[in-house]
Amino acid sequence: MTNSVISPPKKKSTSTVVGPPHEAICTRTFSSWKQAPYIILAFLLPLNALIKKYSCLTRASHSHFSDLFIILSSEKAKMTKNYPTVSEDYLKAIEKCKRKLRGMIAEKNCAPIMVRLAWHSAGTFDCASRTGGPFGTMRFDAEQAHGANSGIHIALRLLEPIREQFPTISFADFHQLAGVVAVEVTGGPDVPFHPGREDKPQPPPEGRLPDATKGCDHLRDVFSKQMGLSDKDIVALSGAHTLGRCHKDRSGFEGAWTSNPLIFDNSYFKELLSGEKEGLLQLVSDKALLDDPVFRPLVEKYAADEDAFFADYAEAHMKLSELGFADA
Ligand code: HEM
Repeated sequence: MTNSVISPPKKKSTSTVVGPPHEAICTRTFSSWKQAPYIILAFLLPLNALIKKYSCLTRASHSHFSDLFIILSSEKAKMTKNYPTVSEDYLKAIEKCKRKLRGMIAEKNCAPIMVRLAWHSAGTFDCASRTGGPFGTMRFDAEQAHGANSGIHIALRLLEPIREQFPTISFADFHQLAGVVAVEVTGGPDVPFHPGREDKPQPPPEGRLPDATKGCDHLRDVFSKQMGLSDKDIVALSGAHTLGRCHKDRSGFEGAWTSNPLIFDNSYFKELLSGEKEGLLQLVSDKALLDDPVFRPLVEKYAADEDAFFADYAEAHMKLSELGFADA
């Protein structure tokens, strides 16, 4: 099935991996300041080309700067990743599927659980053994039965009618696409999506997702040591709790983090800084972000500057959705 529709990965030439000419220039030592204008030009020209290339994608609701940062992080990823080439038909299916997902997620107001599905699929990645990760294994009953995935079958059930229309798309791409679209339709940033993940034949072992009753050391054990993500990624990704809520019958916790849980904005960070409030919830793992000397300034930055949050979130979500995928 999936393997037959994704055309075999073509290795990119080393020149694309190394990066554009301006990067080569900046690694050399300069003997004279007379070269300064040329160096500045070398940086600005590719930037200008990128702005032109993507200007049609710029949405009025976002600042141009945050869009630009998101575009640049996608371009940066292309230099360090070796994305497989997929067929034209596959790309068309992805585009069509994206439209169907937008409609369904908006109609059912189910963006939060779609983001949780994508995150719980990807967050099992273990960089030491290169097992787990965003490779469609949530399709197995065994993984849905993991304690941390309580309720995730609801997302899969909602996705079924669309899944049936696109049998050529891998589960891996499908589940990650649902997460990306869910962020977009609730007003969040456009997270770059690269197709071509193949489905793994076995689910990961249980116990790789974070525990909501633990603090910073645990977050770093899971996100950094296990998954290979950074401190900045931990804080930015935690901002996804701007969406959705906890359900007593799923996680044992109850309540939403913000008063507008179907809108993706920076209110999670604002609420975190303003302290606990009647009717809203903060998990131990959320409050832990306030106690750490690296995490706290990021919380403050994202609370004050939504564009900065969107740019970092888009980059972190893309990294999460590509753990173990297309590594050069
Ligand atoms: C930092 C460690 C994290 C912990 C301990 C944690 C824990 C939880 C818990 C306990 C729930 C409630 C589940 C329920 O009862 O329905 C939840 C929901 C949710 N989580 Fe997290 N989470 C973490 C990180 C993340 C990340 C990285 C993302 C996405 C990038 C995310 C996205 C969500 C969303 C969108 C919901 C709402 C689901 C819904 O409304 O159905 N979480 N999380």
